Order: sequence, then C-alpha cells, then structure tokens
Amino acid sequence: MDKKVVYSGIQPSGSLTIGNYLGALKNFIGLQDEYNCLYCIVDMHAITVPQEPKLLRKNTLDVLALYLAAGLDPEKSIIYIQSHVPAHVELMWMLNSISSMGQLQRMTQFKDKSKKSKEVLAGIFNYPVLMAADILLYQTSYVPVGEDQKQHVELTRDLAQKFNARYSDTFVLPDILTPKSGARIMSLQDPSIKMSKSDPDANSFILILDDEEATRRKIKRAVTDSLNSIDYNDEQVGLKNLINIYSSFSGKSVEEIVAMYDGKGYGEFKEDLADVVCDGLRPLRERFKEIRADKEYLEKVYKEGAEKASYLANKTLRKVYKKMGFIAK
Ligand code: TYM
Repeated sequence: MDKKVVYSGIQPSGSLTIGNYLGALKNFIGLQDEYNCLYCIVDMHAITVPQEPKLLRKNTLDVLALYLAAGLDPEKSIIYIQSHVPAHVELMWMLNSISSMGQLQRMTQFKDKSKKSKEVLAGIFNYPVLMAADILLYQTSYVPVGEDQKQHVELTRDLAQKFNARYSDTFVLPDILTPKSGARIMSLQDPSIKMSKSDPDANSFILILDDEEATRRKIKRAVTDSLNSIDYNDEQVGLKNLINIYSSFSGKSVEEIVAMYDGKGYGEFKEDLADVVCDGLRPLRERFKEIRADKEYLEKVYKEGAEKASYLANKTLRKVYKKMGFIAK
C-alpha cells in the first residue's frame, strides 16, 4: 500500500522562532521515513501582510535553508516554494466558490489580525482557503502544525467534505498532528499570548537563529512568578511555558523535569534551560550558515521540489476542473 501523505508549510514572513521550531519544523523531520512528505515555504500566504520584496526573497531562502539545516532531506521529502506551483492559487479560487463568508469570518486568526490592522485585507480573509488548497491538492492525511492552526485544518476538512458531497469523492480528509509539549509555545514576556515573530518586543521570543548569548539573555529575563518553586500548573503560566520548552528540547517528560528541580530555584532552572535550548539548536545553527551560503544547492532543491509537487498537484487539479464542469483544453 502507498504511504500516506504528510503536508505542512511555514510562512517566510520573518525570522522563525522556537515556537515555529517546536510546534512544527522539529516534528517534520521524524515523519520523513514513514510518510510521503511535502514541506512548503508558503510565500503566497506571507503576502497577506505587506512584505518588503527584497526581504521576502531573503526570508524565503532562509526558511528553505532552515528546513535543510533542521534535517529535511530532499531525497525523502518534496521541499518547494508555494508560488512555484500555481495549482495552489487555482484550486483556492475553486474552493472559494464553496466557502462560506460566515465561516471565514469566524476564524480566530482572521479576527485577531483584522483587529490589529487599520485596513482589513481580503488576503487575510481568504488565507485559510489557500491553506485548504495547499493541503487538499496532495491528498494529505496528516498536517503537522502548532495548535493555532487547528481551526484552519478543520475548515479544510469541511471544504473537502462539502466538495466531495457536491461533486463526488475527490479529496482525502486531513487530520491535524500536534506535538505533545510544543504545540503552543507562549511569549516569554506575556505568557497569556503565543510566542510570535511579529511581536514588537524581541525579548518575548527566541529566534532559531539568535546567537547563544541572546538566547541565554532572553531566558534569564523570561517572566515567571514569586513562588520560586518548580511546579507545572495553570497558576504559574510563565514557568509552565518554560517547562514545556525544556521538555520539547530535551525529550524529558514534564514530570521528570519537575522532579529534577524539586527544591531548586528559578535561577538554576533557567540556566539549565538555556543549556538545553542552546545544545538543541547548535547543530542546526551551524549547518544553517553553510547551507544558506550555497545558492546553487538551494536552487537545485527548490527547482526539483517544484517539479515533483507540480506533477502531483496537477493530477488533483485536472480532476477538480473536470468535476466542476470546465471544458478540458
Ligand atoms: P506560520 O508561518 O505562521 O507558522 C508555522 C508553524 O509554526 C507553528 N507555530 C507555533 N507552534 C507552537 N507555538 C507557537 N508559538 C507557534 N507559532 C507558530 C504554526 O502552528 C505552524 O505550524 N498557516 C500556517 C502556514 C500554512 C500551512 C499550510 C501549514 C500555509 N499552508 C498548509 C500546514 C499546511 C502557519 O501558521 O504558518
């Protein structure tokens, strides 16, 4: 039997945080042997907020190099750039024809982002439909993402179901795959909100590509509480977040970590956490520089990736055109 398909993507809308790493990228690696994996750099999604063209180009290649430095292997997975496969935008348009305005208006990400901006862009509104197109084009069974994407994956299932019901079985219904401890990494300065690369306070996030000094400094400054006792509960939300980060990087369970620091203070815990994070990211940080400098290799990876992805995407797209009643060329 053919292997099932895993699909995920990351936006090149800035430098990635350890939230992106623990919620998504880190989990991509282990899936490569068991599944047919596609990992995309979703540049079309990135333009739903204004991007400086030069920076978008740089960030796109940065994310590609990070994928490779983290351990994605182009011999095993299809790694490509979304805008290189126009089928995504074509399918999105067709899915728009069965998407309800009401459902899109209820998306938390849309509500959050439109609250923050003066002008609400149609791209932000349609963002989840493009994401559904990404996933459905490849007959995806599993989508490894952070918890914030749950609603978008549910919408994708709804659209697939709606399409299948109207035009006969066409799409596989995908399931979300979230990690145990890294599904929702919170801001280091305000643990009630998620860690985000667009946060104006740089102390609130650790970038995958921060240097070790900055990593240690940000962990030292991370907000905790005045209880000075290492416990995992909803009263100590700052500490809970740090324990989650510790657990995701070290592979140790929350219970093990709490037991290890029984009777110890936050200072010692934070120092060890900084070691765990730096050790966890060191190989990736070192490999990144080398890979990022090799323009020819990067180009080879994204060109071959786009070719393989296009082949698969066009198979689905042709079916969709036909089922909806378009005349074949
Ligand atoms: P993006 O670029 O905003 O986020 C990329 C991935 O990082 C996860 N993530 C987090 N996980 C845990 N804690 C956090 N603080 C945190 N911040 C971000 C996100 O859940 C995501 O998995 N819409 C997607 C991009 C996308 C996509 C797709 C994903 C477009 N098409 C198709 C899967 C399949 C997104 O959130 O990107």
